[in-house]
Amino acid sequence: MSENLTQPINLPQALRISRIQVENSSTKTFVLDGAVEAAPGQFVMVWLPGLEDKPFSLAGADPITLTVAAVGPFSRALHQLKVGDWLWVRGPLGRGYDLPPAAPNEPILLIGGGYGVAPLLFLARRALAGGYHVSAIIGARSEPDLILTREFEALDVSLWLTTEDGSLGQKGRVTDAVSLALAETPGKPKAVCACGPTGMLLAVAAHCAAENIPVQLGWEAHMRCGIGLCGSCEVGPGWLTCLDGPVFPFNPLKTSPLDVPYSG
Ligand SMILES: Cc1cc2nc3c(=O)[nH]c(=O)nc-3n(C[C@H](O)[C@H](O)[C@H](O)COP(=O)(O)OP(=O)(O)OC[C@H]3O[C@@H](n4cnc5c(N)ncnc54)[C@H](O)[C@@H]3O)c2cc1C
Ligand code: FES
Repeated sequence: MSENLTQPINLPQALRISRIQVENSSTKTFVLDGAVEAAPGQFVMVWLPGLEDKPFSLAGADPITLTVAAVGPFSRALHQLKVGDWLWVRGPLGRGYDLPPAAPNEPILLIGGGYGVAPLLFLARRALAGGYHVSAIIGARSEPDLILTREFEALDVSLWLTTEDGSLGQKGRVTDAVSLALAETPGKPKAVCACGPTGMLLAVAAHCAAENIPVQLGWEAHMRCGIGLCGSCEVGPGWLTCLDGPVFPFNPLKTSPLDVPYSG
């Protein structure tokens, strides 16, 4: 059993890496020796000495699990770390996916692209524990880019894999599989929960609007403070990704805060 984070969320806590799993040539999963009470879709700010801290979605909360693609200075520095090394974490931060109590086997559809799959793994586990029937679509450019598929296959979920080059699963983008997944889902989903690149989120939002299905979108933005102070993560008119998101139950690029009653 790992130790629960006890610090106030805005103070970083030093945690050791207890396990590292290589997902593919550019992505690793880091399991930390610590836990948080968090909702899927929430994130933590991770700090390494000498570098600006960066947000990462929780792929798991107990123990804290982060799946990281090496694309730049911070993420490459993270990839250099070994089991037993320290990193500094503050959180959980932001609003996660809303998972109301489900009727037995009530359907929910998860759609993930790139490392957006990571928070959806956490969400899939929570939704299954809550009695939902979980369907999931995971996509990437090509087979080697798909991540966490084994973890999803080990769960009791209806799973569709897509690759843009057709090297595994259905050829095309995740959004091409949405109609198929909806047709095979037993009943109208309580929600479609998506996380991934902006283009994917916009396509999912449009699809769900056309089918009148509630949507929850996990958004990304450049973050500095992670707690609503600096304004660097504004995504739509007045919406701060770190505070109002990163999960929004609508398309924050199109919606004015004045139009939308936001509970919580
Ligand atoms: C709420 C939230 C959750 C996040 N969760 C995760 C997560 O679970 N896993 C994760 O790996 N990252 C996640 N990120 C992104 C992460 O915070 C960093 O932005 C990322 O690691 C790059 O930081 P860097 O300093 O290494 O590179 P940067 O210097 O910030 O980026 C280097 C270059 O890579 C580009 N780039 C950034 N991200 C990607 C990408 N995914 N694919 C291709 N090019 C990219 C940038 O535009 C830039 O040109 C999340 C961001 C947010 C806001
Ligand atoms: S990251 Fe500073 S306001 Fe959101």
